[in-house]
Amino acid sequence: MGRFDGATVLITGAAGGLGSSAAKGFASEGARLVLSDIDEKALADLAGMLPSETAILAGNVADEKLSEDLVGLAIEKFGRLDIAVNNAGIVQSFVRLPQVPSDEARRVLEIDLLGVFYAMKHQIPQMERQFKTSGKGGAIVNIASAAGLSGAPKLSVYAAAKHGVVGLTRSAAVEYASKGLRINAICPAHTRTAMVDSFVRVSGAPEAEALAELTRGVPMKRVAEVEEVVTAILFAADPANSFMTGHALAVDGGVGAI
Ligand SMILES: NC(=O)c1ccc[n+]([C@@H]2O[C@H](COP(=O)([O-])OP(=O)(O)OC[C@H]3O[C@@H](n4cnc5c(N)ncnc54)[C@H](O)[C@@H]3O)[C@@H](O)[C@H]2O)c1
Repeated sequence: MGRFDGATVLITGAAGGLGSSAAKGFASEGARLVLSDIDEKALADLAGMLPSETAILAGNVADEKLSEDLVGLAIEKFGRLDIAVNNAGIVQSFVRLPQVPSDEARRVLEIDLLGVFYAMKHQIPQMERQFKTSGKGGAIVNIASAAGLSGAPKLSVYAAAKHGVVGLTRSAAVEYASKGLRINAICPAHTRTAMVDSFVRVSGAPEAEALAELTRGVPMKRVAEVEEVVTAILFAADPANSFMTGHALAVDGGVGAI
């Protein structure tokens, strides 16, 4: 018996570090998957290696139509949508606020913040309908960031987007707490994926030095491994975790405790 036997789980940014590992985690616990990413080839490659029933649709989360189509795909293929992990995201250039090109700021906000808004806008009514007809609710897990809980120097627009994701999460969680939905955010600190690789590259320093600089303020003095964050994603989505909603769960090696 898996924790997610028979559940339909939608994941965006599924081809990336956290998304692909979350897909494998849900699949190994019995879920049926609806996966999306802007990287069509990586998405198809991932689907080909998963043991679960999987439907895929490539697209850009900044395009609202994708969110609508993903919910439609879940219903068409599996008849319902139980869990959504709104994970797709990009990071900004590592520069102080005045140096962020305005076009880039708009792109980060469109993908990292509006992408989550569009997703929830289409996922919530479907989950609410299912709750009304079957009594079985749903869970939404938004991937925010430690930068969604406090300031992040040289990442101001990214931090604004992620604070926004936490705001959407808390507000919608209250709106739908008595309507069968649990909505939570996961707030990881630096995690070993392509996103951290790009920080290391941009720094120009040797990897060990760059990672030491990146984790200087982290009590555990290291980045998170992908599996450590995925454990928290599955925990937030788990139907057994039935009284947790509106929570922004830090997975940050102790940063938030300082
Ligand atoms: N890695 C970290 O240090 C870290 C820390 C905190 C939060 N996060 C958040 O975790 C989430 C996943 O990031 P990751 O670390 O796995 O990075 P990643 O770069 O490995 O994965 C991101 C995925 O999102 C996809 N994507 C990018 N833009 C998209 C768009 N417009 N539409 C659809 N898909 C798009 C990419 O193709 C990629 O597969 C992001 O929201 C990120 O902000 C990451």
